[in-house]
Amino acid sequence: MENQKKEIIICLGSSCFARGNKAAVKIVSEFLKEHNLQNDVKFHGERCFGKCADGPMLKLGEKFYENTDPESIVRILEDYIGNQ
Ligand code: FES
Repeated sequence: MENQKKEIIICLGSSCFARGNKAAVKIVSEFLKEHNLQNDVKFHGERCFGKCADGPMLKLGEKFYENTDPESIVRILEDYIGNQ
């Protein structure tokens, strides 16, 4: 199988966006830049994941992460990137 690109999807629905994902976009972008991963990881936003009550939501690969905050995002990213 072809080497699959890692994917990070951030919920840009209004609830998640207002509750932290506005800042999270920057955190993830900076993280990818710092680790020189812009070409290896596909990072993009999507509309509401339909789980606003559990937001801010982030999706890495097939896995959803709920109630994220700046600290947990960095941990989640490190885990995800480390588990290549
Ligand atoms: S706005 Fe993110 S789950 Fe609804």
